[in-house]
Amino acid sequence: TYVVTDNCIKCKYMDCVEVCPVDCFYEGENMLVIHPDECIDCGVCEPECPAEAIKPDTEPDLESWLGLNAEYADKWPNITAKKDPPADADEHLNEQGKMEKYFS
Ligand code: SF4
Ligand code: F3S
Repeated sequence: TYVVTDNCIKCKYMDCVEVCPVDCFYEGENMLVIHPDECIDCGVCEPECPAEAIKPDTEPDLESWLGLNAEYADKWPNITAKKDPPADADEHLNEQGKMEKYFS
């Protein structure tokens, strides 16, 4: 599966939603997550994310992000169409420590 990581927080560009063939993204207030049981590993979303937030879970040290994606995909609503990103999305690009500052 692919997972969404902290670079998405407060950026939420949603280009990923447009390209996913199985609509497996779920929307929280500040970020999206991927449902690990629904993702078919096609990989098309990874290069579409301007924040480089999406990674295959075969990369090292992503266990906690995989757990977070699984947990919140069950809690948050499915999103199938791109919306307007936050007006200040670009200001949060490359910001450090977004998980601690904004995730709730
Ligand atoms: Fe959707 Fe493919 Fe990305 Fe998985 S890898 S979330 S199926 S676009
Ligand atoms: Fe987030 Fe990137 Fe999608 S910023 S909403 S994972 S395009």
